[in-house]
Amino acid sequence: MSQSYEEFSAALSDRTRRRELLFRGDRPYYVLFSQQFSRADLEALSDTATAIRRLDRHRDGVDFLRRILHGHRVMNLFAQPSTRTAESFIAAADKLGASTRLVSDMRTSSFAKGESIDDSVRTLSSFFDTIVVRHHDDDFASRASWALSQSGRPIPVISAGSGKTQHVTQSLLDIYTLRYSFANRGGIDGKRVLLVGDVGRNRAARSLAYMLTKFDVSRVDIVCHKDYLPEDGLLEYLGRHGIDVRIHDKLGQTLEKLGKEVDAIYMTRLQQEWDSGSGGEKKLGAPDDFVLHHEYSRFVRDDCVIMHPLPRINELPEAWESHPGFVVWRQVRNGMWMRSALLASIHGAADEIRARAARLNLV
Ligand code: NCD
Repeated sequence: MSQSYEEFSAALSDRTRRRELLFRGDRPYYVLFSQQFSRADLEALSDTATAIRRLDRHRDGVDFLRRILHGHRVMNLFAQPSTRTAESFIAAADKLGASTRLVSDMRTSSFAKGESIDDSVRTLSSFFDTIVVRHHDDDFASRASWALSQSGRPIPVISAGSGKTQHVTQSLLDIYTLRYSFANRGGIDGKRVLLVGDVGRNRAARSLAYMLTKFDVSRVDIVCHKDYLPEDGLLEYLGRHGIDVRIHDKLGQTLEKLGKEVDAIYMTRLQQEWDSGSGGEKKLGAPDDFVLHHEYSRFVRDDCVIMHPLPRINELPEAWESHPGFVVWRQVRNGMWMRSALLASIHGAADEIRARAARLNLV
């Protein structure tokens, strides 16, 4: 059935139709934003990620994993800078035996000649079994998904960062990391999360906020400069999902007041690449009110989880690395396990992976 892009994107705001468009049965197919996942999806993906992580340490497990996507080809199309996310996807595919290609210089691709998104992704679908895309345009990944859904040879699309709006695989790994960190404290339900920085334009923080609505979280605090507040539907969405959002403008004062109540602090950098004007001489880094100075450690509990999607500039000083709740490097590693779990789920191998891990007594 043919459907225009406008109809496709309008259907994405309707929960039931969204599920039909973005999933094939239980399997995610087009991975575009946080809201598309149910809590059950998130639990299943996390369990699969743990199974893969443990199988990877086991002699038979490594060989088993490498057969899962043997013969598959994954295209990583990165129109914006990335080291972590691109390499993490490559490593994730590698763990499952898939081969990968990375195209990161758009000047050498046919986009530079003015080729449409539709033609480009349809061409890629002739050679690849999955496309991972990072693009400065908020709608690129959904446009690519729509074009493929209308073609005779659709393949799954995963957004690895969409403009300023969403970074869905980052929030999947962040949820996995939070779940792991709170494993002995009742999980994510009931926890207090503090988001700090350029929350309006940091797509990782935004995607995480959307995903927190899938848990029993009743309050989220945001420390954000008034110029960088989320303007669009994010705050309204959180409100509609029963989350009381409190906005603050000074990190030090906020922590002095409620630091001991906070279970996780999610730091972000100022997204200065989106600023218009002055150009090159601009000083990089967050103003003092959005820096987690190490002296604030007296305001936070030892078990408070400290996170950052990276790259960091000045907002999360290195002295925090000795804090017991500092999990930033674990987030990076978890990115690989979670992206493996996502690829496996998309291609229908998640149940088999979890069953194998259970049989080897690894989970
Ligand atoms: C983030 C991104 O690119 O959105 N980085 C990442 O993928 N881990 C965050 C950022 O650039 O600040």
